[in-house]
Amino acid sequence: MGFRIAILISGRGSNMKNIIEACNKKKLCSSVNLVVSNKSNAYGLKVASKYKIETHILDSKSLATESFESLLDKILKKNNINLICLAGFMKILSKGFVKKWPKMILNIHPSILPYFKGLNAQKQAIENNAKYSGCTVHFVNDVMDGGEIIDQKIVNISTHDDEDSLSKKILMEEHKLYIKVLKKLEKDYGKSK
Ligand code: GRF
Repeated sequence: MGFRIAILISGRGSNMKNIIEACNKKKLCSSVNLVVSNKSNAYGLKVASKYKIETHILDSKSLATESFESLLDKILKKNNINLICLAGFMKILSKGFVKKWPKMILNIHPSILPYFKGLNAQKQAIENNAKYSGCTVHFVNDVMDGGEIIDQKIVNISTHDDEDSLSKKILMEEHKLYIKVLKKLEKDYGKSK
């Protein structure tokens, strides 16, 4: 059973593109109906437009969090969205907003949570001489990078890796992991119907 997905981005949008393509190629039975960016210059907006997906800019610099979230909530409801995928979305959603969308917001983080939370997770892994890191897809709750973990993928770190090479290795796995999780959720959702 498929979801009506909204993807929230702030930048490049490679995870977004990958989810859109998986839907278009019927690897998933969901559809991406909406892309929202909190930054007007997010490259992902251009990509989403190429796929003819409705895009919205809610500029978090000029909007107070309350207005930002109430506008976002309206757009999501208007489009009958029932799953929100954060993909490089760099704004923290408030407790109140997250409570309105229980188990309906996913995030992808470039580390094996609970390790290396927050910004620059790949840099943190390199600086800590970690032997491995990876990526995590989790439900979003009111604790940053703290919601229930759905799935993770480990990536080995070699002595030659730097932040850049590790980020590339992790990103390749992120793309696969997000789709794997969405497939699992579609299955669970189908069973609950
Ligand atoms: C990814 O590494 C994701 O894990 C993190 O931000 C990055 C977004 O990349 N939250 P992209 O915009 O999907 O290419």
